[in-house]
Amino acid sequence: MISTKMEGALNKQIELESYASNLYLAMAAWCDQQGLAGCTQFMRRQSDEERDHMLRIVDYLFTVDGKAIIPALQKPPTTFKSVQSMFELVYNHEQKVTKSIFKLLELSDLEKDYSAENFLQWYVEEQREEEELMRNILDKLKLIGSGARSLYYIDLELEKINQEQLAAAAAEPGA
Ligand code: FEO
Repeated sequence: MISTKMEGALNKQIELESYASNLYLAMAAWCDQQGLAGCTQFMRRQSDEERDHMLRIVDYLFTVDGKAIIPALQKPPTTFKSVQSMFELVYNHEQKVTKSIFKLLELSDLEKDYSAENFLQWYVEEQREEEELMRNILDKLKLIGSGARSLYYIDLELEKINQEQLAAAAAEPGA
């Protein structure tokens, strides 16, 4: 049986993951308008991943007799200053999510909710990977710079990351 406090905190996390999914889908739509196919596919897949993060919490609440509250859709921005600033926004959002996961872990510790603590470990690893990925992308964007042809090379780079991630997913056991 989950406590009301932990149930409320996990529902807040559902909101955060759901907003991330919406935000990244809005970013995919903006990238598509800029003709950046690699960036579009990358953000589209990130959006799917965030929806999966949200669903994991919904499913977890089902298993502990908690009540999952599905949040209203908050409208994300529809335009972004540049690809660089868009990825900075993604990185900032991921850092916010990581802090929120750590707070959930603190709460699970305080409440001696070892089931929640065990469940949240998956998110700790996932956030480490996502923050690292976004930092690597930002580093590459800095190297490429903002010259006339930079968008072309940025998009190629994102397409390369897409292919690497798809290959890694296909190689996972059970894929
Ligand atoms: Fe689910 Fe990337 O935060």
